[in-house]
Amino acid sequence: MATPNNSNGTAASKKQFILNAFVMNTPGHLSPGLWRHPRNKTADYNKLSFWTSLATYLDNVGFHAMFIADVLGPYDVYKGPANVDPILAAGAQFPVNDPLYLVPAMAAVTKNIIFGVTASTTYDAPYAHARRFSTVDHLAEGRVAWNIVTSYLDSAARNFGLDTQVEHDERYRIAEEYMQVCYMVMLWEGSWKDDAAPRDTKTGQFAVAGKVRQINHEGKYFKVPGPHICEPSPQRTPFLFQAGTSKAGTEFGAKHAEAVFVGGQTPEKIKDSVDALRKTAAEKYGRHHDHLKILCGMTLVVDETDEAAQKKLDDFLSYGDREGALGLFGGWTGVDLSKYTDDEDFRFVGTPAIQSIVKRWSDTVPGSEGLGWTKARIADFLLVGGMIPTIVGSPTTVVDELERWASISGVDGFNLTHVVNPGSFEDIAEFVIPELRKRGLFKTAVKKEGATAREVFFGQSHLLDDHTGSQHKWK
Ligand SMILES: Cc1cc2nc3c(=O)[nH]c(=O)nc-3n(C[C@H](O)[C@H](O)[C@H](O)COP(=O)(O)O)c2cc1C
Repeated sequence: MATPNNSNGTAASKKQFILNAFVMNTPGHLSPGLWRHPRNKTADYNKLSFWTSLATYLDNVGFHAMFIADVLGPYDVYKGPANVDPILAAGAQFPVNDPLYLVPAMAAVTKNIIFGVTASTTYDAPYAHARRFSTVDHLAEGRVAWNIVTSYLDSAARNFGLDTQVEHDERYRIAEEYMQVCYMVMLWEGSWKDDAAPRDTKTGQFAVAGKVRQINHEGKYFKVPGPHICEPSPQRTPFLFQAGTSKAGTEFGAKHAEAVFVGGQTPEKIKDSVDALRKTAAEKYGRHHDHLKILCGMTLVVDETDEAAQKKLDDFLSYGDREGALGLFGGWTGVDLSKYTDDEDFRFVGTPAIQSIVKRWSDTVPGSEGLGWTKARIADFLLVGGMIPTIVGSPTTVVDELERWASISGVDGFNLTHVVNPGSFEDIAEFVIPELRKRGLFKTAVKKEGATAREVFFGQSHLLDDHTGSQHKWK
C-alpha cells in the first residue's frame, strides 16, 4: 500500500534508505561463473569505459555510492595450499585490479555519486595511503570514501613478505595507530591549516610558512615525521566506511567509522551487530546515534512478477561455477572443502573448527534446519551473491522484504550486489527504486549537486565535532 506523501513528495514519517552499488574491479565479484552470462560485461573490468558507463548510470538513477571491494591476494585455499587453479575459470575475485585508479575517471563523468574504495591498514603504509586518498579526494572534489579493512587472506600476507597473517586483534591494534597517523596525529587533520595555501600572486606565496607543520609521529608500528605531502582535500579526511564485525572490528567501527558495512544472513543477526555498534559509539565514544550509518549487503533478483524473478534466478544459476564458489568459500573461511566427500554434512563432520564455521553460518540461513550442508549445497548456495543474502521476487515482494530487514535490523540502507553487470543495477532502477519512491523510502531529489561525501550523509564536508578525529584538528 502506498504511503501518503508530504510536500517534498516523500513520506513524512519514514527514514529514506541509503543505496550503494557493491562492486569490485574483477570479472567475478560475488557470483562466480556469471561473467559469461549474455547480459554481463564484467569481463571488460579492465576497460575504463566499463567503469565510466557504470558510474554514469548509477549517478543518473540516484545511487548514493559505489562501494568497491578489494583484496590483495588470491583465494587459494581450496584444493590448496596455494592453488589458484579452481578460481581461474570463474574469474572468482581473480584477477583483481586496484580500485583507486578508477576514481578520477568516474568522477570526471559524474556529479553526485560517492566512490567508496577499500584499502587495507595491514599492508599499505599510512603516509603513502594518506597521499593517495588526498589526491583522489582533490580530483573527485570530495566524493571519496575509504572503506577501512584489516584484510583476511594468508595469500596477501605471503605476498607482502610475511609467512602468515598478523594475528587478528593485532591487525586492529595496527589499524588504530594507522588512524592516528592518518588524521589524529595528524596528516589529514593536523598538518596543514585551512588557509595554508593562498596561491597569492602578489606576495609570491603559494603556501605560507608556519601554516604547514611536521607531525613527528613515533609509535609502536609507524614512524612518520610528515608533513603531509598534499594540501588538504575538500573533506580532509575522506568519508570513513568500515567493514568488520568481530569484537575488535565492532570496537574499531564504533570509534572511527562514519558508515559501517555489516554482514549477516538474517535481519535478527544483523540487529545484534547494529545494536553493538550504536551502543559502543554512543556510550564509549560519545557519538550521536545518527552519526554512524549502518548498511547491510543484499542481492536482489527482481522482475515484474515473482514467477519471472524466479525464472531469472534459475537462469543465473545455470551459469554458476561451483569450483569458483568453493574457491571463494575457502578464502572467506580458510576451510578447504576438497578434502571431503560429496555427501558429508559439514555441520557434523570435519574438524571442530570446520563444523563451527559451517554451523554458525548455516544456522543463520532460514529454512536450512532439515537440509544437509554438503559441499554441493554450500557451492549452490554461494553461486548468486556469495554469502550476501538474496531476495527474489516482484517489486512489491522485494521492497516488502527490504522494509522488513530494515525495520528489524535497524540498518540505514543496503550495499546492493550485482549478479550481472550491466543487468542487476538496471533491474533495481527499473523495478525497485520506483516502488521505494512510491513508499517514500528513497530520495526524490538530489540535495546539492556536487556535494562532498560527508555533506551527503551529514551536511558538512569536514569531520563532525563528535568524531574522534576532530579533537586533533589544527585550529
Ligand atoms: C560485509 C563485509 C565486507 C568486507 N569487505 C572486505 C573487502 O572488500 N576487502 C577486505 O580485505 N576485507 C573485507 N572485509 C573484511 C573485514 O574488513 C575484516 O578485515 C575481516 O572481516 C576481519 O575482521 P572482523 O573479524 O572484524 O570481521 C569485509 C567484511 C565484511 C563484514
